Amino acid sequence: MRKPIIAGNWKLNKTIDESISLVEDIKVKTMDLNREQMPTVVVCPVFTALKSVANILEHGKGIDLGAQDCYHVDSGAYTGEVSVPMLKDICVSYIIVGHSERRQYFGETDETVNQKAKAILSHGLIPIICCGESLEQREAGKTDEIVKTQVKADLKGLSNEEIAKSVIAYEPIWAIGTGKTCDSPEANRVIKLIRDTVAEVSTREAADKMRILYGGSVKASTIEEQMSMSDIDGALVGGASLEADSFVGIIKGTMLARTGK
Ligand code: PGA
Repeated sequence: MRKPIIAGNWKLNKTIDESISLVEDIKVKTMDLNREQMPTVVVCPVFTALKSVANILEHGKGIDLGAQDCYHVDSGAYTGEVSVPMLKDICVSYIIVGHSERRQYFGETDETVNQKAKAILSHGLIPIICCGESLEQREAGKTDEIVKTQVKADLKGLSNEEIAKSVIAYEPIWAIGTGKTCDSPEANRVIKLIRDTVAEVSTREAADKMRILYGGSVKASTIEEQMSMSDIDGALVGGASLEADSFVGIIKGTMLARTGK
């Protein structure tokens, strides 16, 4: 069975002190949860807070550290960038790539997403590769085509083993930060389609091992239904990850859905 992942994408929010206090609060509120049944929990603060948050997390013991982006080259004349070995150096184990906000505002393309995913995997870290359609594309009936094209391009050239380790987050752009979630059966349908596309470019075995998350206005009140779907392996959470109560509510809801099965 695939172990669920609940990842908090803090986006451009929180100072170092605020990040420390949030992660301390999450730690306290998850302390009594059964570690065996707990999903993999990942928090992704801004770059400047990563080291301070890393110092608080006991690496590998409950909560993992994620970054929101990286550059695909290890070092050199690339002003302003941060590389995978540098993130690994401060105990980052997951890196989000291709978030729709990066595609929309910072020129991220499937080609750069693919380069970053390769760099991340080559250093033994795990990429969380985001894909998803805009409202316009959905209304034009292009959802399946868009998502399939993104997934094929983003995974190009990865080995079956690398694909099995990678994580994909299906995030319909119209559901991000809008309060409108994609209804669970539809999210599950697209995620199944993603899994079948992964099987096409690798193997069924790799596709069945890969964890595919849903993202877009996930809340404590929506997660149980989402996690009861056959192919949804967790969530990438934005707004609701900025407060310990709502984030921990999502972790608990995931556990309830899984143990209730
Ligand atoms: P949201 O963001 O939960 O605030 O909709 C999700 C994301 O962008 O990853």
